[in-house]
Amino acid sequence: MLNPELVERAVEMLRRGGVIALPTETVYGLAANAEDELAVRRVFAIKGRPATHPLIVHLPGAEHLSSWAREVPDSARLLAAAFWPGPLTLVLPRTPRATDAVTGGQDTVALRVPAHPVALAVLQRLGGGVAAPSANRFGRVSPTTAEHVRQDLGTDVDLVLDGGPCAVGVESTIVDLSSGAPAILRPGGLATEDVERVLGHAVPVRAESKVRVSGSLASHYAPRAGVVLAEPHEAAARVAALRARGLRVGVLGPQGLALPDDVPRFDVPEEPAGAARVLYTRLREADARGHDVLVACLPSASGLGVAVRDRLSRAAAPRDS
Ligand code: TXA
Ligand code: MG
Repeated sequence: MLNPELVERAVEMLRRGGVIALPTETVYGLAANAEDELAVRRVFAIKGRPATHPLIVHLPGAEHLSSWAREVPDSARLLAAAFWPGPLTLVLPRTPRATDAVTGGQDTVALRVPAHPVALAVLQRLGGGVAAPSANRFGRVSPTTAEHVRQDLGTDVDLVLDGGPCAVGVESTIVDLSSGAPAILRPGGLATEDVERVLGHAVPVRAESKVRVSGSLASHYAPRAGVVLAEPHEAAARVAALRARGLRVGVLGPQGLALPDDVPRFDVPEEPAGAARVLYTRLREADARGHDVLVACLPSASGLGVAVRDRLSRAAAPRDS
């Protein structure tokens, strides 16, 4: 999986201002050299993302923290030591190395060290920061395989590195350490319980943030089909009601839901980490089948189940179009 020649090519492209798709353990990223403003602008253009929405800077290791963050509180050091490389992003006051193009002009920067061997190899060889949002068009479901990236972005990217399916499957957990008490801006691939255990206190989820977190817009992560949420025991009744209205219905959920035989079910296990791993792939598979509505079963709200429920709720939110 780790092809040194491809890593070398990727690093060359990043150095020359290219934009590449990079596998991480959470989702695939659309990567540019964070210090190359033109390349960063191209990332926004390819995604169709508003330029005021800041990007995460990916680093080769925690030892780079202080060249991107001008204050590194103990809480940041503790979390970095415990969870990097891994699915955790820290928001900290920036140094000038984090440009306006990356931060959307904010005084903070989001930093993370990804755990995927291909991403780490590229970052270590580059020796600098890589700005990378998820490699999907703005508002759509994030890619967890190289094939998803090719389907979404086609020839708009200079290179797609294939690192296999992402092991975590949902985006990183974002923790704001830039002012006052720590807060979670986006639940993700690291459980809140784990963050709280290391910090030794409760960490609230701050949904309404003064910073712009596009993953926190209501109708994000949206498939084409409508999405209706259900607790597993409600799924069969929801399906019956929607079918009675003449809709083509699919189900995202675990085995044992007592559904009619002719209702397509896309397996999302009950166990939260397993659900996170396959969620985006199943949403894409179900969407490709042309259903009008997907009934999505919610996993329990513990561990990665919080992130899965969050993404499904956003997929189910009312949309403009
Ligand atoms: O797992 C992940 O985090 C993936 C992989 C590729 O690393 N990346 C990802 O990037 O999800 P993106 O751009 O789709 O989401 C990054 C989130 C956005 O919601 C953005 O607003 C937020 O991070 N963010 C970036 N900089 C921030 C800052 N200074 N303050 C608050 N939020 C920030
Ligand atoms: Mg995204």
